[in-house]
Amino acid sequence: MSFVEIKLEGLLSHSVIDSQHVNLISLLDNLVLVAKNSAGNEDILQLYERVYSYARHHFQTEEKMMRESNYFMAKDHIEQHNNILWIISRSSQEIGNGKGDTAIEQLSYCYEYLLRHIHSEDVEFFRYHSIASLDA
Ligand SMILES: [Fe+2]
Ligand SMILES: [Fe+2]
Repeated sequence: MSFVEIKLEGLLSHSVIDSQHVNLISLLDNLVLVAKNSAGNEDILQLYERVYSYARHHFQTEEKMMRESNYFMAKDHIEQHNNILWIISRSSQEIGNGKGDTAIEQLSYCYEYLLRHIHSEDVEFFRYHSIASLDA
């Protein structure tokens, strides 16, 4: 487990979401590595598909919790989820077009974006969620 992943473990004190973050960052990190080593082959498109599906699954889990707790910042938060999905899909298109360097830049940007999102927007939401749960 990388240092970044260790820091994500227990960050939100929510076992499901914390382990999804570790898995998602690990999948994305692996994709960046594979893209750097062998951009352009068919296996990598399957890896993109895995990362995209897992990210969507994770975002849907959080968005369900936001609806259930009437989170007032949900719209902006969901917009960031959609941006992340869009960058992953955009990067896989670039790989398909043979533009490996652009794809890698987009993936690296996505990795940083996702980490920032987890450490700011997700932390904010789970702070709200724990207070909302106490009120319920
Ligand atoms: Fe998240
Ligand atoms: Fe999120």
